[in-house]
Amino acid sequence: MNNYIYWIVMLVLFFFFAAGCTEIPEPKTPSYETTLDASEEKNSAFKEFFPIHYQTYLQNDDDSQMTEYGGSVPHEKHLCGDLPQAYKYCQPYLKNLWTGYPFSYEYNRARGHTYAVHDLLDIDRLNRYSEQAGLPSTCWNCKTNKMPGYIEKYGDEFWAMEFHQFREEHDLEDHSIGCNICHDPETMDLRITSVPLREAFQKIGIDLENATRNEMRSYVCAQCHVEYYFQDPKFGPAAKPIFPWTEGFNPQEQYEYYKGFGSTTREGFEGWFIDWTHPVSDTPMIKIQHPEFEMWHDGIHGAAGVSCADCHMPYVRLDGKKKISSHRWTSPLKHIEQSCLQCHADKQPDYLKERVIYSQERTWEQLLTAQEVSVKAHEAVRLASEYQGEKRDDFDQLMIQARERIRKGQMFWDWVSAENSAGFHNTAKAIETLAKSQQYSQQAVNLAMQATNYGIAPDLEGDIYEIVPPIKEHSRKLQMSQEHLDSHKWLQYLPKFEEAELIWDLNKRVRN
Ligand code: HEC
Ligand code: HEC
Ligand code: HEC
Ligand code: HEC
Repeated sequence: MNNYIYWIVMLVLFFFFAAGCTEIPEPKTPSYETTLDASEEKNSAFKEFFPIHYQTYLQNDDDSQMTEYGGSVPHEKHLCGDLPQAYKYCQPYLKNLWTGYPFSYEYNRARGHTYAVHDLLDIDRLNRYSEQAGLPSTCWNCKTNKMPGYIEKYGDEFWAMEFHQFREEHDLEDHSIGCNICHDPETMDLRITSVPLREAFQKIGIDLENATRNEMRSYVCAQCHVEYYFQDPKFGPAAKPIFPWTEGFNPQEQYEYYKGFGSTTREGFEGWFIDWTHPVSDTPMIKIQHPEFEMWHDGIHGAAGVSCADCHMPYVRLDGKKKISSHRWTSPLKHIEQSCLQCHADKQPDYLKERVIYSQERTWEQLLTAQEVSVKAHEAVRLASEYQGEKRDDFDQLMIQARERIRKGQMFWDWVSAENSAGFHNTAKAIETLAKSQQYSQQAVNLAMQATNYGIAPDLEGDIYEIVPPIKEHSRKLQMSQEHLDSHKWLQYLPKFEEAELIWDLNKRVRN
């Protein structure tokens, strides 16, 4: 071998080993051999192997504490007042904005994971007065640890099955969101069991097999803390949960996405996806669900690679010896020292708390305004469609445009409203989304006024709380009463329900 080649070979070998040495292997999630069955689903089965983790898991039962804007006391979110039923930060128009949709019957502040099955079975959104729940089994997807078993047994048939048929087989605690959803029971390796997340990642080219540990510390949460919708049967298995991500993670991109995947034939909205038609303004609407993952991912922490678990599952030492990841998923403001100071060691807890509240206060103010303009937009279109005076020649076209703006304005408001951090996860995006919401809703008002040559303008002047009072009370039971439906001008657009008695109380049938 001549000298020249010898040195090249040595150089290549040197770089090969040098590179190998400098590459710091990422520490792995500790692996275990539990002797649990691979299909184990009960949370209590994990207790004997991980008693301290289980102890932190049970802390999710504590629903006694609010923070300034977050926290876990499950009050009704539209009621302004004092705990436990109401709260100082409320959105009084929720029942107005969701009129005609099950969310208008009951919508509460979220609490810990240990309550997920209980709260799902206790909510008026599912029709407990009837043999049909009115919503599909898809709702189970983010509440129960029986999901992997259901998917194995029923496959894609599961989603459209009758929700009520699975009530009785649920233990309220032992089957709530549990270990097997995020961990392989045999090794405790992190895993993604959620069908919609696996499929959504596949569509946008994220390869879960090569996900890093740090990514997995957020992906396990993205199984549920995301926007989703129930698939229209024209596009695949009916009622399957789908994450609308192929256009991107932002409200504008999701709005574009929803211009497809539906089967509505309404003029101006042909083929668009709709969750329900708002009966007051006759508008095809979208309901957004908790897009925490989408909000966080390009915020300051998400962009810097700070994972959900970094803040929501900080390391704690319960037995005085071993550090473990806390499995109490709650507001980090309850434990700033563990959650934030690991990175912000140069700051005081009170300073960080004030910074969080600073962002939330500003977000909240714009959220309330967005909510009010959205109500005004529905009212403007309602007035315009009932207007008897002289209309513009292009009235019908303007009204289509006005309704499209209502849909968009409300969707943008909901994107921030349904997201649970009151703007903290990504304040710039939250405020931008709310600014746009206000602009779109105001455009709807203007279009409706134009369509009537401003004939309806005088009726829209003044305080929106007087023009359209908030609907304080509404439920399935109340919708059986004509007196209730006559009590608010917006409720008159709803059909009266037949008298009926409750059939279901939590996981028990109380009437045949
Ligand atoms: C930098 C830390 C941080 C990261 C990263 C983070 N969060 Fe949060 N999260 C917070 C703070 C702070 C709040 C506001 C809590 C409050 O208002 O009391 C919050 C609020 C929440 C809430 C509502 C809690 C409540 O009390 O109602 C949920 C749910 C949530 N986050 C989920 C997530 C998910 C899912 C991710 C990842 C996609 C994530 N968070 C990433 C800090 C973080
Ligand atoms: C929502 C998802 C989720 C659920 C549900 C969940 N875990 Fe975890 N778990 C995690 C994450 C994230 C980590 C951190 C993994 C890492 O850093 O690589 C973790 C880590 C662990 C570890 C490794 C050691 C440690 O403390 O970091 C054990 C053991 C564990 N969990 C046990 C359990 C048990 C027992 C349950 C049920 C009572 C459970 N987990 C439920 C997400 C979850
Ligand atoms: C299987 C679905 C699912 C997964 C996975 C999941 N969550 Fe949740 N999460 C929920 C549901 C449902 C609730 C509301 C439960 C209730 O109110 O009954 C909730 C509530 C919360 C809350 C509010 C608790 C409170 O005290 O107000 C936080 C914070 C939270 N989750 C964070 C996380 C984080 C962080 C992860 C990932 C490590 C995660 N979740 C994974 C479904 C899930
Ligand atoms: C894993 C590390 C990590 C954790 C944990 C973490 N942060 Fe941060 N935080 C960062 C990074 C990185 C930045 C970006 C600015 C920088 O480089 O200092 C940042 C920026 C901030 C900022 C300034 C930007 C803004 O949005 O106003 C605030 C406030 C903040 N963090 C609050 C918190 C709070 C509150 C918690 C706990 C709930 C927390 N952080 C937890 C890493 C972290």
